[in-house]
Amino acid sequence: MPDTAQTPKGPRHVAIIMDGNGRWAQARKRPRLFGHQAGAKRVREVVEACPGLGIKYLTVFAFSTENWKRTQVEVAGLMNLFRRYIVKETRNLTQAGVRVRFIGDRVRLDSKLIDLMDTLEAATQHNDLVHLTIALNYGGRDEVARATKRLARDVAEGRLRPEDVDEETLPKYLDTRVLPDPDLVIRTSGEARISNFLLWQSAYSEYEFIDTLWPDFTSAELERLCRSFGRRDRRFGAVPA
Ligand code: IPE
Ligand code: IPE
Ligand code: MG
Repeated sequence: MPDTAQTPKGPRHVAIIMDGNGRWAQARKRPRLFGHQAGAKRVREVVEACPGLGIKYLTVFAFSTENWKRTQVEVAGLMNLFRRYIVKETRNLTQAGVRVRFIGDRVRLDSKLIDLMDTLEAATQHNDLVHLTIALNYGGRDEVARATKRLARDVAEGRLRPEDVDEETLPKYLDTRVLPDPDLVIRTSGEARISNFLLWQSAYSEYEFIDTLWPDFTSAELERLCRSFGRRDRRFGAVPA
C-alpha cells in the first residue's frame, strides 16, 4: 500500500461521538462548560483534515435527545455555545467549501438557534468539498420514530402502499436521507457504547472506541484511524471471494 493518507480504501463518511469534554475539564479542576468550549474548538482542525484523508462526509454528535437530563446550567451553556459557534464559524466554513447540515429534532431548540442553523445551512448549500453534518438534539430512536410517523402519514393519505415499504423506503424518511451510511464511527473517551447515535445508518459501520478525550483529539489521530480502517476486511455478511 502506498504510504499516503489518501488510500482508496479510506472511509468516505466518518461519524464521531465527541465524548469526554466533562472529564477533560474535571481533570483541570474547571467547570464542565470549559471542556465543552475546548471540544468545540477541536472541530475545525478535524473538518480541515477531511479533504486530505479522502473523507467527504463528516457527521458529529453535538447534543443528544438524552442530554436534556443534564443540569439547567450545563444545557443552557451548551445551547449558548452552539449559537456562538455558528456565528463564529459561518464565514470560515463557507469559505472553506464546507456544506453544513443539521440533523435531529428542532422542536425543543430555541428560535434564535434555529434561525442561525437555517442561515448556516443556506449559506453553505452550494459547497461540496466536505459535507459536515451536526447532530443536535439528535437521537437514533427519536429519528426512527419521527420517520415512521411521516411514513405512516403517507400510507394513511394514499401516497405509499404498505407492501412497498422496504429497507430502501424507511431511510428516505430519516434526517440523514441525503447522506450515505457512515463507514467509520469513532467514539472518544473510552466508553464502548453508541448512546443512540445513527442506529439505522451504522448497521454495517466499522467502530473505533478510543481513550482520548474529545478536547485532546487531533487530525493525526484521525489519520491513524483512517489507515487502520483501510486494513479492515468489510464483508457485509458475505464470504470473501
Ligand atoms: C460530550 O462530552 C459532549 C456532550 C455530550 C454534549 P460530555 O459532556 O459527555 O463529557 P463526559 O462524558 O462527561 O466526560
Ligand atoms: C453521547 O455522549 C452524546 C454526545 C457526545 C453528544 P453522552 O456522554 O451523552 O453519552 P452517555 O450518557 O455516556 O451514554
Ligand atoms: Mg459523556
